[in-house]
Amino acid sequence: LDRDVTEQRALDQAMVALDGTPNKSRLGANAILGASLAVARAAAASLELPLYRYLNSEAHVLPVPMMNLVNGGKLSSNDLCFQEFIMMPVGAESFSEALQITAEINAILRPMTAERYGKLAINVGDEGGVVPPIVDVREALNLLRDAVRQSGYEPKIVYALDCAATHLYDHRTETYQFEGKRLSRDGAIQFFKDLVAEYPIVSIEDPLQEDDYEGFVEITRALPGVQIVGDDLFVTNKARLARGIEIGAANSVLWKVNQIGTLTEAMETATMAFRNAYGVCVSERSGETEDPMIADLVVALNGGQIKTGAPVRSERTAKYNRLLQIEEELGSAATYAGRAFRRPV
Ligand code: PGA
Ligand code: ZN
Repeated sequence: LDRDVTEQRALDQAMVALDGTPNKSRLGANAILGASLAVARAAAASLELPLYRYLNSEAHVLPVPMMNLVNGGKLSSNDLCFQEFIMMPVGAESFSEALQITAEINAILRPMTAERYGKLAINVGDEGGVVPPIVDVREALNLLRDAVRQSGYEPKIVYALDCAATHLYDHRTETYQFEGKRLSRDGAIQFFKDLVAEYPIVSIEDPLQEDDYEGFVEITRALPGVQIVGDDLFVTNKARLARGIEIGAANSVLWKVNQIGTLTEAMETATMAFRNAYGVCVSERSGETEDPMIADLVVALNGGQIKTGAPVRSERTAKYNRLLQIEEELGSAATYAGRAFRRPV
């Protein structure tokens, strides 16, 4: 191709053109993504800049870690319907304090879970959280909240969920199976309204199935002040996000670079979200490697929030350690997103 590594967009476009299929099936999305990210890294290295700064000289926001401490759904071996029960240390002063708070809470949560549910419950799930044999959503939230209360950090903590409701939806009967009970779309929306009234839940990902744009409009309206995140709904895809923005479905996009396949396309999706006052939540995958790249990417985006699992096991801690390093490097220029995680300043 004879191009310079700083020509990220042109190189990504060339790969997409060479592939020529709508979903990168000829060259393979993983191969294209690997090359795309290697280009960005090589460019940053050749300029002797950290990746986040190469991508954005204004990069300065350290994200709130969305810590998935209790795992359910497809990420676990239990029958808890929702995938992720998340605590967010929004009241911390810095990223490093946020991480410390979380590590302390996790250290309380694990023995507490073992005591209540037996030793098997603290084998870790796919994203490093505990996997208690719970069915009831409130029971899982109470377990997490009990650990938070015992830590003394309760005023600094709020909660979030990833429901991955597509996996709980039955197209034939058009119902969701929450806690073993069948619910219509309206029933599901009411279920979330009740939960939000009872717990300080500030963010809900995929509360409804991935093709129900109208339902996402309804639930976004029904829960003012709550972040509604589209993961399976948008799949980091600009066209799907544009459709959501047009009608007001969700108010935030989950951002997974390997869902879309090139850095350029992922950046375009994030830009579209920010321009339309949607939040951007940078995310790992449940199957992860030790590659810490998303830590640089969330700071480059000034995104304000990152989902990368519990603070255990190297494929998770690699990201947190990199964020600690970035915070130190930025020094007084660093801003922790805190309560402004959806619209960082
Ligand atoms: P994944 O999803 O298993 O597709 O990586 C994790 C998530 O739903 O956020
Ligand atoms: Zn998800």
